[in-house]
Formats: sequence, structure tokens, C-alpha cells
Amino acid sequence: MKLIDLARRHARNFGGMTPAIWVVAELAETSYERVVAGSQDASRDVVAKAAELAKRYQGGEPLQYLLGHWSFRELDLVTDVRALIPRPETEMLVDIALELVGKSVGYVAADLGTGTGAIGISLAASGRFSLVYMTDASAEALSLAAQNVQRNIRVVKGAVFLSRGSWFAALPDSAKGRLDLVASNPPYIPSAAVSGLDERVLYEPRSALDGGPSGMNCLFQILSGAPDYLRRGGSVVLEIGEEQGEVLAEVATSFGYERTSVRPDQAGRPRFFSARWMG
Ligand SMILES: C[S@@+](CC[C@H](N)C(=O)[O-])C[C@H]1O[C@@H](n2cnc3c(N)ncnc32)[C@H](O)[C@@H]1O
Repeated sequence: MKLIDLARRHARNFGGMTPAIWVVAELAETSYERVVAGSQDASRDVVAKAAELAKRYQGGEPLQYLLGHWSFRELDLVTDVRALIPRPETEMLVDIALELVGKSVGYVAADLGTGTGAIGISLAASGRFSLVYMTDASAEALSLAAQNVQRNIRVVKGAVFLSRGSWFAALPDSAKGRLDLVASNPPYIPSAAVSGLDERVLYEPRSALDGGPSGMNCLFQILSGAPDYLRRGGSVVLEIGEEQGEVLAEVATSFGYERTSVRPDQAGRPRFFSARWMG
């Protein structure tokens, strides 16, 4: 059997021909394009493994966990149950973060709740930061982030410092007043809404999703902690739920932040909050 026929066999199982080709290419250690070209044969091992993965996918496991890695901007990140799967909209958070710091070099940033390390490694890869702190409360997530730093070490410029703890408690005192940027995609889904999420999302760690009763606990904690760590003129940028921007802007203003802004994702939904600390 050809690889392309194997992909056809499993197209329905994997929710479409495109993901089926990805899976088959991955298992056969070849490229998507070579599967599509149609001349490569599938070994018995690949046929058996495709059937096993199809069963796991049908059981609700996300494709990104089955494949074991996923792309984020120019990075290739290991993805497994230790952390949230990096989303395409979070790539926009990195764009906004880079716009906020500017085009110079030598900046210092913190990616709080780093998960796979997607945001922190992307910032480090931009070449604009002399130091990026990457933190998480979850030891499992942090071990995955460390693995991904190593996997992408060729593009990492400047230093990265990984540490475990709740939000700013993970940072050393020496970071106080030094950060140009605090970036985070924290859990922001209201607790009551988590169980109603798609079954594949529920494969991801609950601690990466559940933002407390209103969904905004972590967002408020980060906003209230950041002023001790930001230098004058430093920025905070957060990925948020689409209903949360207005409240967050009010709270940020009451904390003394300036230039609050809520920006849309690719679908036009208000999903990113930023503000500057001029205090
Ligand atoms: C929505 S995930 C984001 C992961 C990654 N930054 C991304 O964008 O793909 C939120 C992350 O915050 C972490 N987290 C949850 N509570 C935390 C806390 N109190 N302090 C630090 N990290 C926390 C979770 O373990 C998880 O990795």
C-alpha cells in the first residue's frame, strides 16, 4: 500500500485528508509533500501505527499530542500532556510583544506560565532580548519548556532562565524594576465553563485553562504584580478571553497603568490586552 492510500484510509478517522497526511508523513519519517506525491510505500509498521493513532484520535486525544511536536512561528516544539498546545493566536501575542518593546536590543522579558515555552523561546529567538525569564507553576510544563529550549537552542539568542513558581514569585529579586516586558497567556477560562470545552481541549492540563470563578484571577494577579518588576515605560501584554478586555482595562487604569489597549485576533475577537507602566 502507498502512504497516500494509507492517508485516504484514515482521512475520516483524523477529521480530514490534511491531518491524515501529516500523521502518515510523521510515522513514515517523510514529508507531507512526499506522501502527496504518491510513490512511497507504507511499511507494515507504519500501517499498524497509523491504526493505533487513529484509535487514540477517535478517543479524543489532540493531533498535536499524537504527533508529539507542533510548529509555533519558526519553532518546532515538543507537545505532550505536560502543557497546553500552543495556539496560532498566541503567535500574535508575540508580534504585539515585539512591537511594544521596539526594535533595539538588550531588553529583558518574562514569559509567565510558559507551558511549552512557545512565547519565551520566540522572544529569545527575536534577538532583541539579553535575558528572557520563562516561568511556570507546573514542574511538568517547565520540564517540557526546558526540552524545547534545547530543541531550538540554535535560534535562541541571549540568555533564558527557567524557574518554577506562581507568577512573579518565580522571579529572582534581581529582576525587580528591570523588565521591559511581561508577557503571558495565563489560564482565563471561568471554572464553570471548563468542563463544557471540546473533549480534545480537556486532554490538556486543567491548570492551563481554569482562570477561577470569573476566569480573571490569573490576569488580575499578573497585572497587580507586574509594577514591582517592570522598569518605567515597560509593558505588560496578556492573552485574554474575548469578554475580558474592558474590565481589565478599567482595573489596569485603577492600578496606575497607562496606554491600555485591547487588540483583536485574526478572527476580529478582542483577545490581547496591553498596557504600559510609567510609575
Ligand atoms: C494557557 S497556558 C499557556 C501556555 C503557553 N504560555 C502558551 O501560550 O502556549 C497557561 C500556563 O500557565 C501556567 N500557570 C497556571 N497557574 C500558574 C501560576 N499561578 N503561576 C505560574 N504559572 C501558572 C500553567 O501551568 C500553563 O502552563
